Amino acid sequence: MTVKIFDTPDVQDFINTIAGYDQDGGNERAKQIMHRLVSDMFKLIDDFDVSEEEYWSAVNLLNALGHETQFGLLSPGLGFDHFLDMRQDAIDAEAKRTGGTPRTIEGPLYVAGAPEAEGFARMDDGADTDGETMWLTGQVRDVNGHPVKHAKVEIWHANSKGGYSFFDKTQSEYNLRRTIYTDSDGRYTARSIIPSGYGVPEGAPTDVVLKSLGRHGERPAHIHYFVSAPGHQHLTTQINLAGDPYTFDDFAFATREELVIPANKVDDKDAIAQRELDGPFSEVVFDIELNKTDAAELQTRHARPRAKENEQDQASQLAGTAKV
Ligand SMILES: [Fe+2]
Repeated sequence: MTVKIFDTPDVQDFINTIAGYDQDGGNERAKQIMHRLVSDMFKLIDDFDVSEEEYWSAVNLLNALGHETQFGLLSPGLGFDHFLDMRQDAIDAEAKRTGGTPRTIEGPLYVAGAPEAEGFARMDDGADTDGETMWLTGQVRDVNGHPVKHAKVEIWHANSKGGYSFFDKTQSEYNLRRTIYTDSDGRYTARSIIPSGYGVPEGAPTDVVLKSLGRHGERPAHIHYFVSAPGHQHLTTQINLAGDPYTFDDFAFATREELVIPANKVDDKDAIAQRELDGPFSEVVFDIELNKTDAAELQTRHARPRAKENEQDQASQLAGTAKV
């Protein structure tokens, strides 16, 4: 038996009432969006003949996702973060802001207030003895190839176990998080450790959703960036290290061809001595090109709840299982 009631006047009137269309108070945009959302969901229930058992198991799953603060994890897994990037790419293209290093998703694990340095910083605290030394460097340029001095390069990444400081309480404060301002030649350099990829926790609500789609929840090793400079468009991006089994199979859809960077092993004694390191290391070179813009709102990152950034950061501070 399949009944279709969505188009009946009773249901349409009901949705108007649900969305507060007959109320003076509230917010017009909220009303319109809720009207659309409820309409689409009601229609879906009708079209797919969703059973009560299916509906309430979905409600239960949503409760579990919220309880474990995993919406920040499911969001990229279901492609919303990348879809928002695709929209921003299209907005840039329409405004003729072409070229420059591609953006990709931020994820929920940025923490504001990392230590700042000029030109060079060591990012790891030396406690992760499994970590392979990484020499991460590059030049920030504009799209015409001119170096951008004193650009603000914010970098954060996971340790050798796939955990992020602040969310992983076993790590020291701001471990593997630094803000580096480029030197007079637009260059930045960090000594750190090669991060590990990681997966959505087995059995977690996000894992339940992905498994129902026949998908995995693995991410390749990656390094997050915010890059900004006056007169240039703010860039949110990340690099995925080449050679990881999931480099081109990232459950969060963050991989972009231009952002796959090799980690090259270096065991040359002079190169080691020059960097004052103890032994062989892996060098990762990531040059960044920023678009120029006079628009102030494009020169800073968009607002969203972020740990230690604003009063809205509670959800981010609780995102302990959201390893994106
Ligand atoms: Fe991440």
